[in-house]
Amino acid sequence: MSKALEGVKILDFTHVQSGPTCTQLLAWFGADVIKVERPGAGDATRAQLQDLPDVDSLYFTMLNHNKRSITLDSKTPKGKEVLWRLVKECDVLVENFAPGALARMGLTWEKIHEANPRMILASVKGFGPGRYEECKVYENVAQCAGGSASTTGFRDGIPMVTGAQIGDSGTGLHLALGIVTALFHRTVTGLGQKVDCAMQDSVLNLCRVKLRDQQRLDHGPLTEYSQFGEGIPFGDSTPRAGNDSGGGQPGRILKCKGWEHDPNAYLYFITQAAVWAPICDIIGEPGWKTDPGYATPKARLPHLNEIFTRIEAWTMKHDKFEAMDILNEYDIPCGPILSMKEIAADESLRKTGTIVEVEHPTRGTYLTVGNPIKLSASSSEVTRSPLLGEHTDEILRSVLKYTDAEVDEIAHSGAVGRIEKIAAE
Ligand code: COA
Repeated sequence: MSKALEGVKILDFTHVQSGPTCTQLLAWFGADVIKVERPGAGDATRAQLQDLPDVDSLYFTMLNHNKRSITLDSKTPKGKEVLWRLVKECDVLVENFAPGALARMGLTWEKIHEANPRMILASVKGFGPGRYEECKVYENVAQCAGGSASTTGFRDGIPMVTGAQIGDSGTGLHLALGIVTALFHRTVTGLGQKVDCAMQDSVLNLCRVKLRDQQRLDHGPLTEYSQFGEGIPFGDSTPRAGNDSGGGQPGRILKCKGWEHDPNAYLYFITQAAVWAPICDIIGEPGWKTDPGYATPKARLPHLNEIFTRIEAWTMKHDKFEAMDILNEYDIPCGPILSMKEIAADESLRKTGTIVEVEHPTRGTYLTVGNPIKLSASSSEVTRSPLLGEHTDEILRSVLKYTDAEVDEIAHSGAVGRIEKIAAE
């Protein structure tokens, strides 16, 4: 099977998480992703959160599959020369340096566009133009500034960040879409363009239902929020709503059998209006099907606490998988709270390649998340992340067509660090 992005060359000047998630996606779809790293150190994540001494961390390996690595000191004259050769050779330059860093290396959009008019320059920054545009940003800063933290957690608790990396990986996803859109546009115009994604904007895009609620507040209380049923007045901004469903069908996380000792013995339960009758039968409250205080979604809103307490009395008699099986018989939307341990062992996720085992020369076998986007006519297997500078020699010779003498000269200049030829695996 061919790969959808075969033939596309990416100059991957990304580090940490946001940029690497983007280029990893492109690599999974078949793009040739050439990761440029600083000699000696490389992407800082190689050495962060290490679980094994002197081995690339899982942080790094799980974000940099299917790529090639070249080491290059972009601040030396020879390094700059190689970098510009890469700019002329590649279709896309992806970077997520701090604001201004790329320009300080001499890589302004004007110069890039002049050197290679077809090149697309894709950048992640923490903020778009405005008062914070010069700021360095990490995941949780974006979650806070993008509206996620103020709307996550419980009403009477402090703002919370979420474990889903919506600031980094979320922005990487947005950027990848921007890149393939620009590649498509290039087929019409013949020209590259700039693609900019700010982490704040990406988080906000993922939090749009909360901006929806902000505007609804002008016209009355948010009746599907638990707080409404509890008689607690709303303030002037979208409140934190615990585990209330963000949509029009009320839902909660409920205890299941074993909750006393298992921190994940819980089930998300949605009281979808269409299946109210079977819900009443299952929980032993058949009278609620016709009782005017419970029969319609609107009538139920002030009683959500009572209703979910009653449903929980039922879920607590079953383990989360049992409850899921029973409820699914009646198309009642629900989902078990799965731990990472349970997900790692999930047969279906392994079958579809969403959870994959990867072999790494210094780490051994480890588990990672494969491509969650499945194309029917484009394969997408996961190959291990590169060792630091593993492909330096190969890229200089076969991609950039340097002669033996030129490669020696580059190596001796110190611009590429040590050139390693890794034996074929
Ligand atoms: N050769 C020589 N120098 C290199 C190099 C190379 N191959 N690769 C990077 N550098 C240099 C840069 O030119 C820069 O130097 P300068 O500041 O003297 O111009 C320097 O390394 C550091 O880059 P910077 O991006 O500032 O790294 P940092 O570790 O200080 O900050 C972030 C990290 C993530 C906070 C910052 O990059 C950032 O805000 N990025 C945008 C938002 C983002 O993506 N955040 C999420 C990350 S998951």
